[in-house]
Amino acid sequence: MSDKPITVLGIESSCDETGASVCQDGTILSNVIATQEVHRQYGGVVPELASRAHMQHIVPVVQKALEKAGINARQLNAVAFTSAPGLIGALLVGSGFAKSFALSLNIPIISVHHMKAHVLANMIPEQKPDFPFLCLTVSGGHTQIVMCSAPNQMEVIGETIDDAAGEAFDKSAKLLGLPYPGGPLIDKLAKTGKPEFIFAEPQIPNLDFSFSGVKTSILYFLQAQEKKDADFIKKNLPDLAASIQERIITILLKKVKKAVAQTGVKQVCLAGGVAANSGLRNAFKSLGEESGWKTFIPPLEYCTDNAAMIAMTGYYQYLDEQFSDLSVSPSAKASW
Ligand code: KG4
Ligand code: ZN
Repeated sequence: MSDKPITVLGIESSCDETGASVCQDGTILSNVIATQEVHRQYGGVVPELASRAHMQHIVPVVQKALEKAGINARQLNAVAFTSAPGLIGALLVGSGFAKSFALSLNIPIISVHHMKAHVLANMIPEQKPDFPFLCLTVSGGHTQIVMCSAPNQMEVIGETIDDAAGEAFDKSAKLLGLPYPGGPLIDKLAKTGKPEFIFAEPQIPNLDFSFSGVKTSILYFLQAQEKKDADFIKKNLPDLAASIQERIITILLKKVKKAVAQTGVKQVCLAGGVAANSGLRNAFKSLGEESGWKTFIPPLEYCTDNAAMIAMTGYYQYLDEQFSDLSVSPSAKASW
């Protein structure tokens, strides 16, 4: 390889964030994101509206990412983009843009798996884990424990059999009458509450997770309490939020503990949108300290969906010459 720096543009458009980022020799030079507020009024992401908003945002977001990085498009070595999993229309906007931009610059494209990129967000901060490491990836659509042996070598060793942790937060929040996305609101409310209420804990074998029973347990509990007092939720909102958060965290961390015991790997990372949860971050750090593990949590901007993690993953794939053909198609679901 020459002494010239390797500069990769990363593009993220899997859901409701349009992102672009420049990574040079493993350092993030810029990370620009346009969040789509249009979905808030519908209580969830509307796929068609997401695709349209990506179309509006993608060119200015890429321009800004290049400007902020002080990089001319001609200096780019490759364009990396999220190819799966995600909303198909949203992915098509990012991949279509990435292909045409790369073609016009005569440089290769790199198709990136969104969930692998969440894991490699842990390689962005200065303090990075050594390989192999374990990663608990918790997002709106996925909950996984991943064994990462090398940047491009990962294996899912545990995952949810129903709802994802982010969905558990968002659906529970909905039961409390909170708007979408409820995860950050539960986090905020939990700060002033106490985990007074106990919700069901699933008994799932191996390293897998389940959250649908927790949601049902919360629903039945609220229905019973509201029969006695119609204002129960209003009166107990912070304590309810703290109790929901506590249960989700204990489910997650129990399995992380088990994964460390089974694998003997004591470098443990957190990733994904739910890793922005302050209760989870604190409990994860404390568990690491108690247990003698080295823990890593990316800064908030690299936990929720972002293009820096795509650019970083693209950089590692570039080093291994994992390029894609222009005929590559994005996919809503992706095999690991
Ligand atoms: O990784 P992400 O940004 O998008 C997906 O790929 O799904 O994750 C979004 C999820 C949502 O469910 C959102 O409610 C949750 O992350 N989330 C949080 C917090 N911030 C985002 N959940 C709990 N506490 C937070 N502070
Ligand atoms: Zn994500």
